[in-house]
Amino acid sequence: MKQTAIVYGSTSGNCENIANKIDAALGIDSANVFTASQLDASKIASFDNLLLGSSTWGSGDLQDEWYDGIEVIKSSDLSCKTVAVFGCGDSSGFSTTYCDAMGTLYEAAKAAGADMIGAVSTDGYTFDDSTAVADGKFVGLALDEDNESHLTDTRIAAWVAEIQPSL
Ligand SMILES: Cc1cc2nc3c(=O)[nH]c(=O)nc-3n(C[C@H](O)[C@H](O)[C@H](O)COP(=O)(O)O)c2cc1C
Repeated sequence: MKQTAIVYGSTSGNCENIANKIDAALGIDSANVFTASQLDASKIASFDNLLLGSSTWGSGDLQDEWYDGIEVIKSSDLSCKTVAVFGCGDSSGFSTTYCDAMGTLYEAAKAAGADMIGAVSTDGYTFDDSTAVADGKFVGLALDEDNESHLTDTRIAAWVAEIQPSL
């Protein structure tokens, strides 16, 4: 596996726990797992693969730690990099903006030229709308620690198995 970073934004720890679980499943050095507030151009330059994660806040917004980080992504040339996105939200309480932040990360990385991997079927999820859905699939790994935490480990394992050969 090439140099891989996991970058996340998390307010109450859910997305952070998910990042750490993905880290453990991939066997990445824990030094390469850090918050989006620490993301800068030099960090991006030192990795081949980026796994970008955010919980969704407000009404479909990125988690706060992405405030500057999303601008770093937008201003980077990711054309030689592979990127996958993940996110957590509340598919019941925020059913019309479920995991929208993951869609925002996806669009920014895709526009910056990254090779995007890791789309996931929406089968088995219940929600009304999400900007993280494109062509009938989630653009990355959508998780719901508020209502479906019992499914998290299985969903992570399946996603990691799918993306690992491309990393
Ligand atoms: C005020 C508030 C707004 C939220 N807005 C959304 C939303 O628009 N879409 C969504 O999917 N989840 C939303 N959530 C749910 C959180 O994303 C969810 O609880 C998540 O697991 C928090 O992860 P974190 O601890 O990593 O920040 C919201 C939660 C709160 C309390």
